[in-house]
Amino acid sequence: MNDTHNSQLSKFYKRSLQERRDVIQTWVGSGRSVGEVLDGNLRVEQADSMVENAVGIYSLPLGIATNFLINQRDYLVPMVIEEPSVIAAASHAAKLFREGGGFHTSSDAPVMIGQIQVLDVPDLIGAVQRLDTVKAMLIAKANEVSGSILKRGGGVIDLEIRVFEDTEVGPMVIVHLLMDTRDAMGANAINTAVEYIAPDVAEISGGRTHLRILSNLTDRRKAKAWGIVPASALETENKDGYAVIKAIVEASVFAEVDPYRAATHNKGVMNGIDAVVMATGNDWRAVEAGAHAFAARRGAYTSLSTFRQNEAGDLYAEIELPLAVGIVGGATRVHPVAQLALDILGVTSAQELAEVIVAVGLAQNFAAVKALAGEGIQKGHMRMHARQIAMAAGATVEMVPLIVDTLIRENNIRLERATALVKQLNETEQDKR
Ligand code: MEV
Repeated sequence: MNDTHNSQLSKFYKRSLQERRDVIQTWVGSGRSVGEVLDGNLRVEQADSMVENAVGIYSLPLGIATNFLINQRDYLVPMVIEEPSVIAAASHAAKLFREGGGFHTSSDAPVMIGQIQVLDVPDLIGAVQRLDTVKAMLIAKANEVSGSILKRGGGVIDLEIRVFEDTEVGPMVIVHLLMDTRDAMGANAINTAVEYIAPDVAEISGGRTHLRILSNLTDRRKAKAWGIVPASALETENKDGYAVIKAIVEASVFAEVDPYRAATHNKGVMNGIDAVVMATGNDWRAVEAGAHAFAARRGAYTSLSTFRQNEAGDLYAEIELPLAVGIVGGATRVHPVAQLALDILGVTSAQELAEVIVAVGLAQNFAAVKALAGEGIQKGHMRMHARQIAMAAGATVEMVPLIVDTLIRENNIRLERATALVKQLNETEQDKR
């Protein structure tokens, strides 16, 4: 459906909120009323069935990132985030990548790993051999409880055995069950399967099964994005595109060699990733856990992305990380705004969603690194920050622009100053009456 759409919505940020909603309504078609979904949002009765001891709803801003071209298809990207500048930065980055042909992506099949910890194994070598011999039987057994996923063409595809010979609690056999969970994130399916086959694993190994739970290091379920930003698109007033690329590459290498920088660099990646993961009702803690474990996979924590100059002299950017997200089940089904977010994206599989998300991560990361390698990020952040401070000080909608201008002019974006300005404006208003 989105194939006929163009995500380059010029000056989208300048349109009124209602106009933006109208654009989204046209984008998703007449199937559901965008305004009704967004105003209705999650109802407290739904929240009550989602978590225990519910007392209300906690809301966050939902915005739309524009300009995304991924595998030659246009996407508008819903993002849920409290931080200013993120959505604008993603949209701007997508525009620059678009000049190099947009993002390209790939992804692994959606394979989750379930772990069974086996302790007190009397004969390690024998246990491993026996488990290996009955692998097919254990896979078939696990598939007995994989009903709906099997129907959709997924199911358990393999079983692997790992051994930790010498740990503080004795030798440990770890059985990994690999399950293709298709369009589901798959946590429930894989957890059910490992719990179901654990008694057989105990019997066959002669040991005692202990933990039975998925691994969030979903490294069989990675998504990758890459793209080019032409040097010509990176020119600034005082630097040519090649100098900007050099500065970006230097920043990239900093994150590759230094975990202190890598953590912040990857936080920039996750600004984009989490925002889409949240918008679509997926588990962002799971994605975070997987991303950071993957970033440390070689023993030292490093960056998830790299930026280099390619042979043509342009900037080549690449990112890869595990991304376990779904388009069915869990909050994706219950949360009306998550449903709308999936409609806006127009994705038809969990893999496609993961590929869009990883491209957004790369865009976000590029925007941050480009800003840091150029003028720094504070300049761009200042106006939004000043707006938030003005609002926190109790400024009315009419007062905000004046207060923001004053805070920036005085280079004093602080709550005390904003509060004083609000007081001053209120007093002037009262004097007028
Ligand atoms: C802020 O939310 C994210 C950045 O710190 C990321 C980075 O340093 O690359 C700007």
